[in-house]
Amino acid sequence: MDRREFVGVAASGWLGACASLMTTTVIPVDGTVRLRVRNHPNLDRPGGYLKIQPADSNRVLYVLALDSNEYAVVSPICKHLGCTVDIDGPRLLCPCHGSMYARDGGVLRGPTEAPLDRFPATLSSDGVLTISLQGPRS
Ligand code: FES
Repeated sequence: MDRREFVGVAASGWLGACASLMTTTVIPVDGTVRLRVRNHPNLDRPGGYLKIQPADSNRVLYVLALDSNEYAVVSPICKHLGCTVDIDGPRLLCPCHGSMYARDGGVLRGPTEAPLDRFPATLSSDGVLTISLQGPRS
């Protein structure tokens, strides 16, 4: 392996490690995930977010801080043709055809016509966010 190849392999390994660090694996119990917000500093401020992956699934969900004590949990799968949307500050953008969603999953710009799937989430008075994975609410 020459120096250039070594650097490429090392960089891809580092990038892979970073990508996996950006998603938090969570353990659902009876179809529910509980997150103590203070253990996830990104969630403890408006505009923060956390990408979670339930251990029993290969799907990723975005947990998005809205205003204080309000959260949205959405599927990142674009409702147009199924690409994965990116979190871009105050909105979610689809890299494929430009659909734009609000952080609560609502449609801001097409071509999509449907909001992102959103999962029920409630914050208790002691700071535990409870997310139901039973299915998106309608
Ligand atoms: S798949 Fe997202 S805009 Fe087309």
